[in-house]
Amino acid sequence: MNIMTFQTNEELNQIAASIVASLVQTKPNAVLGLATGSTPIGLYQELIRLNQKGYVSFKNVKSYNLDEYVGLPADHSETYRTFMNTQLFDHIDIDKNNTYVPNGNAPDLDAECQYYDEMLAAASLDMQLLGIGHNGHIAFNEPDDQLHSGTHVVQLKEETRQANARFFSSIDEVPSQAITMGVGSILKAKMIMLIVRGAEKADIVKRALQGPITTEVPASLLQTHPNVVVLLDKEAAKHLDA
Ligand code: GLP
Repeated sequence: MNIMTFQTNEELNQIAASIVASLVQTKPNAVLGLATGSTPIGLYQELIRLNQKGYVSFKNVKSYNLDEYVGLPADHSETYRTFMNTQLFDHIDIDKNNTYVPNGNAPDLDAECQYYDEMLAAASLDMQLLGIGHNGHIAFNEPDDQLHSGTHVVQLKEETRQANARFFSSIDEVPSQAITMGVGSILKAKMIMLIVRGAEKADIVKRALQGPITTEVPASLLQTHPNVVVLLDKEAAKHLDA
């Protein structure tokens, strides 16, 4: 694992964006696995800036998002589709027909999961971007005694609903289920970029990156991948051994 710690968010965002931009410059039809949450927003802003200045084009890029809530109305401001449009896709030259987010309102959710897996298998992710939940989840793969390899419907843990309640008017509004890519699909990406910010994630960063590999900390499975780059702010990195 290549772990980099940054003194400022600005530097972290610039390096993260330059890694994504270099990949797309080298491979204009790259397939990107994208993430939501507050963590990637600064990276997305930097990518928008690079795109608008003409340094990188996403015209031929395809993207697949990690996850989506089940049952939120499609026009709800907190669907991950809306998030991706407003935080990134609306501001860059990507063809939105080439951007995929699981459909959390599909009439048959199992069929939707299978469809998403078939697309992922055909596409092959060049890079998967990840954040981490406070309990070590990646995408919505929650800690458990076993993890799923493929896309599946997940029951969100109460702590995850609480953590995400800040984006909703009340906890009752936070969906209790989501569709998520499985850890198998994530680990198949040629490269993984994990970004973590903030002191409240320092403990889970330590457990994920330097603790035992266990399904109780899904992010710890990243230790088995040969090409992971981790970008941390100094707060998130504070418990790591040098
Ligand atoms: C959600 C998403 C994850 C994300 C996590 C952390 O649960 N499904 O992909 O990594 O939140 O979010 P944040 O970056 O806001 O801390």
